[in-house]
Amino acid sequence: MDLVKRLEEYRDRERELMWEGTFAEYFEIACKKPAVARLSHERIYDMIMDGGVDTTRTGETRYRFFSDEIFGIEKPLQQIVDYFHSAAQRLEVRKRVLLLMGPVGGGKSTIVHLIKRGLEAYSRTPEGAIYAIKDCPMHEEPLHLIPYELRGEVEKDFGLYVEGDLCPHCRYMVDNNYRGRIEEVPLKRITFSEKYRVGVGTFTPSDPKSQDISELVGGIDLSTIGEVGVESDPRAYRFDGELNIANRGVMEFVEMLKTDEKFLYVLLTLSQEQNIKTGRFSMIYADEVVVSHTNEHEYQSFVGNKKSEALQDRIILAKVPYNLRVSDEVKIYEKLLKQSSLQNVHIAPYTLRIASIFAILTRLEPSKKAGMSLMKKLKLYDGEDMEDFKQKDVRELQEEAVREGMDGISPRYVINRLSNALIKNNVTYISPIDALRALRDGLDQHTSITREERERYLNFIHEARKEYDEIAKKEVQRAFVYSYEESARTMLNNYLDNVESYCNKTKLRDPITDEEMEPDEHLMRSIEEQIGVSENAKRSFREEILIRISSLARKGLTFDYTSHERLKEAIEKKLFADLRDVVKITTSTRTPDKEQLRKINEVVERLVAEQGYTYESANELLRYTGSLLNR
Ligand SMILES: Nc1ncnc2c1ncn2[C@@H]1O[C@H](COP(=O)(O)OP(=O)(O)OP(=O)(O)O)[C@@H](O)[C@H]1O
Ligand SMILES: [Mg+2]
Repeated sequence: MDLVKRLEEYRDRERELMWEGTFAEYFEIACKKPAVARLSHERIYDMIMDGGVDTTRTGETRYRFFSDEIFGIEKPLQQIVDYFHSAAQRLEVRKRVLLLMGPVGGGKSTIVHLIKRGLEAYSRTPEGAIYAIKDCPMHEEPLHLIPYELRGEVEKDFGLYVEGDLCPHCRYMVDNNYRGRIEEVPLKRITFSEKYRVGVGTFTPSDPKSQDISELVGGIDLSTIGEVGVESDPRAYRFDGELNIANRGVMEFVEMLKTDEKFLYVLLTLSQEQNIKTGRFSMIYADEVVVSHTNEHEYQSFVGNKKSEALQDRIILAKVPYNLRVSDEVKIYEKLLKQSSLQNVHIAPYTLRIASIFAILTRLEPSKKAGMSLMKKLKLYDGEDMEDFKQKDVRELQEEAVREGMDGISPRYVINRLSNALIKNNVTYISPIDALRALRDGLDQHTSITREERERYLNFIHEARKEYDEIAKKEVQRAFVYSYEESARTMLNNYLDNVESYCNKTKLRDPITDEEMEPDEHLMRSIEEQIGVSENAKRSFREEILIRISSLARKGLTFDYTSHERLKEAIEKKLFADLRDVVKITTSTRTPDKEQLRKINEVVERLVAEQGYTYESANELLRYTGSLLNR
């Protein structure tokens, strides 16, 4: 890094952010770059699109703006982006409140958070530059200074669309200090910041008795009312409600449906007419995105309430269900764990995956398709093909489901349980089995699940466990075979030598003692039996192999272990069967002999070096697999 150069760049950027000037100067900027005067929805849409777009394997659009933080819910995000897209074209939808509805811990707040933080960062970039009338409490769009009579011409000649009117504060200033000479009005570039209450606001409902509407729309300024005398003088008013300060940006309305009706009426006028009704003033124009979130239960009772019809009509609902893809769920946990202080505890391979499998099973709806178990559905959703079902079936499954992803276990629950297991007794690692145990124990404390659900969930823990058992066995077997291909080749050559001597009635030579020997019938049969070649059929099977070898040889090709589909299968099965015994014996003896000990150490080393285990977790894996194989 060239520090001096970077410092210069930094200062240049800071200088740009500090820009101040007059309306006349701004008008020039806006003519060259009309994007500076975008309305709020378009600004957010551009911000998302500027991040870049990818297409996933399954043809879904993935917005990079979200994709570092939000995983597996491409469709809901797509809906949200679509909303901003139409709103950016100034369609009616921009006058609606965007309401995210979904189960607890499903990422609603995270989405809003990303938009808020994103806007702050975007306003600091050249693409996201934004300007306002200096000292305006609502950091108003300077183009509002242009008198109505001239706006038509401005739009025609310069392509600048102007919407909205000066706020009472700026109107007073222009009338009294500048006497209409708007070109001299001072402006500045602004950067959005929730902390400094510029362009990003949050309204959280609290006790309706004590919560005042001024939190949303501002109120009388008690320090100046004495001087100016009348309440309708803009100097006697503070335009500092959340809706005021969020002008041109975004306001998050936390749990909108929990709030008192009087607050919702304010939203009604805002969404209807883009105006905020404040104190003794005529309507104040505001341009901002209002996003809220709620859970399904509250939404249903809101929809059931006749009194709320007018507001319902002004809401755009976006469902945010849980993620349903195992690999994405793993990413969620990794993200959350990275943010926590538990980083020096080792998480054994497959731990997060097994926890994810459990979580996703609780979220899936059973399918009516014959032979489609929840586990198969889970794997299909995760991009894996089965023998009987393929990726092409996924769409049908999704269409069949009614409210999939709206129920089940949340990532938050899983992380809480994992953290619980991690901090317990100073453990140095946790395994998939520990994770499942922690998840199971937590179900007793989980207050919001019914007895039936609990039964169902316990069953899913069992299913996840079975899944892990298979994985564990494979993992260990793989570590036992030093080089799988190598072993397969050796076994094949051995088999072929024997088959040749059997068919040609010749003798084999022992490579070490050089003695002549009969073909090893036991060896050949042990391989052939793997694929059900019977005693009667063995001769023709062996001859078939020899014919294949010579026909390949005529074409100048050599026979290898992939040349014959059935033989390949037989060899693989035999290899695993042999290994199974070795694994079984080695992993389950309490007092391993020297050779077994050497083998075990070798396997542990390999698990540590190549599969990401620690010595402790690798040893536990071996113990666990040993007990499985002995069942
Ligand atoms: N699909 C997802 N991708 C990434 N992270 C997620 C996802 N779903 C949930 N999370 C994570 O889980 C945690 C809980 O999510 P968040 O607080 O956003 O949920 P919420 O829908 O607002 O929940 P609540 O209804 O309880 O307020 C967050 O840390 C969030 O990052
Ligand atoms: Mg939330």
